[in-house]
Formats: sequence, C-alpha cells, structure tokens
Amino acid sequence: MRTIVVTGAATGIGRAAATAFHTRGDYVVLTGRRADALTKAVDGLDERAVPVAFDASDPDQVTAALSQLPDRIDVLVNNAGGNTDFDHDDPTDLAGVAAAWRANLEANLLSAVLVTTALRDRLQPGGTVVNIGSIAADKGAGAYGAAKAGLASWTVDLAAQLSPTDITVNTLAPGYVADTEFFRDKLSDDTRQTLVDSALTRRASHPEDIAATVEFLASPGARQITGQVLAVNGGERTSR
Ligand SMILES: NC(=O)c1ccc[n+]([C@@H]2O[C@H](COP(=O)([O-])OP(=O)(O)OC[C@H]3O[C@@H](n4cnc5c(N)ncnc54)[C@H](OP(=O)(O)O)[C@@H]3O)[C@@H](O)[C@H]2O)c1
Repeated sequence: MRTIVVTGAATGIGRAAATAFHTRGDYVVLTGRRADALTKAVDGLDERAVPVAFDASDPDQVTAALSQLPDRIDVLVNNAGGNTDFDHDDPTDLAGVAAAWRANLEANLLSAVLVTTALRDRLQPGGTVVNIGSIAADKGAGAYGAAKAGLASWTVDLAAQLSPTDITVNTLAPGYVADTEFFRDKLSDDTRQTLVDSALTRRASHPEDIAATVEFLASPGARQITGQVLAVNGGERTSR
C-alpha cells in the first residue's frame, strides 16, 4: 500500500486526487486549513483516509504538523493554493501591493516549498512529487501567475535534487477547472462561457481530469517524466 499526502485536499482538485488514490487502495493523508472541511472530505471513506489540518504556507504550522504526517511517503501532491487576489480589492498603496503579492507567493509557491522541504527525507525511492501549477503561469495573472511560474521554475531545481534518490518531480498546469472553490462564486456566466469556449475540447476541466493525470504521474509508466510542466487544459493553450 502506498502512502499519499495531498495538500489542500478538502475541496476541488485536491479532494478528487485524494479520493482517486484512496479508491486505488492507497493510504491518503488529506491536509488543509479548515478542519471541518477536511472532516467532510473524509466522511464516507475508511481509515485509509486521514485528515491533518495545517496552513501549508506557515512554517510553524508545517513543523507542528510533522508528528501527524507519515514517516514514509510515496506521493506528495502540493495542491494547496489559489488566487488570493480574489479575496480583496486591488490595493493602491505600496504596502497593500506588497501584502497582496506576498499572499499569492506564500499560498502558491512557499506552501509547496515548505511542505516539500519538511517531508523531503520521508519521500521514498520510486516516489513522486506533483505540484499543481496553472495555465496562469504562461498566460499571466498578476501575482498569482507569477507565483505559479515560480513553482514551475522550482520544479526543475527540485527534480534535479531528488533524481539521485529516484524521486520524480513535475508540475501539472490546469486551465479552467469547474466544481472547485477557486473562483469563490465570483465567476460570471459570461466569463465561464469564455473560458469553456477557449478550450479546444469546448468544455471545462473537472477535478477528476486533473486527478487522473496526477495518478498517471505517480504510476510506474511515468518514471521517465521529471522536471516537466504538463498542461491539462483541453487545448486552451497549445504547445506549438
Ligand atoms: N480551479 C481552477 O480553475 C484552477 C486552475 C488552475 C490551477 N488551479 C490550482 O489548483 C489548486 C487547487 O485549487 P482548486 O481549483 O481545487 O480550488 P479549491 O477548491 O479552492 O481548493 C484549494 C484548496 O487549497 C486549500 N488551501 C488553500 N490555501 C492553503 C494553505 N495555505 N494551506 C493549506 N491548504 C490551503 C483550501 O482549503 P482551506 O481553505 O481549508 O485551506 C482548498 O481546499 C490550486 O493550487 C489552484 O491554484 C485551479
């Protein structure tokens, strides 16, 4: 039985990934900040699904959570994040701009760096780290896109560091994914339709689409894939 840790697993993509691994028979640890949302996420799953609440962007909380996290980890999915600019109006003063940029960098880049660094010695040979990036890294989306671009860059560095111990590291970059809390109910019908229409498949991705690719990256068939950013966006942005 493999051991999987998924950050931000109470909802959306993280929950779908955790559920997919659990269905395969793996032992899955679901993390996130809201204990109540995690409890809901594991409701109906058996004892192989364990909730551990902590803020992945807070060094003290990550350190405090270590005793509750598994000693041996096969798959780490750094999924926690989101566009923190959705939570406030555009700042006009420099202090506000700095705070807004720090929030996105902390939520999307530092969270993955801290959790991976804390768990690095527990990652097992043959294992994998999957970071959830975004199409925004290439399309641009202010601090959020910059943070996801940073995540892609760090993926290259981490892949080189972990390759000698037979651990692969990749970033999966979704386009628009419906059925998540990402847009906080702020997505207008027009914008949603524009996002759907911009995909060659003419449909939104769903968390299960992203989870299936995470599962693939964690499978024996993907051992020669490392240091990459894989786009899962229905052709919203093509490679050539
Ligand atoms: N939905 C999209 O269209 C889309 C597109 C491209 C990329 N993505 C990326 O996909 C990932 C998953 O997002 P989602 O779409 O599934 O949205 P979501 O439903 O909002 O899921 C994000 C999860 O991350 C958790 N989280 C956020 N900050 C955290 C932190 N500091 N520490 C621990 N947990 C944290 C949230 O739970 P708590 O609030 O309880 O912590 C939440 O459960 C994110 O990295 C997002 O940027 C999403």
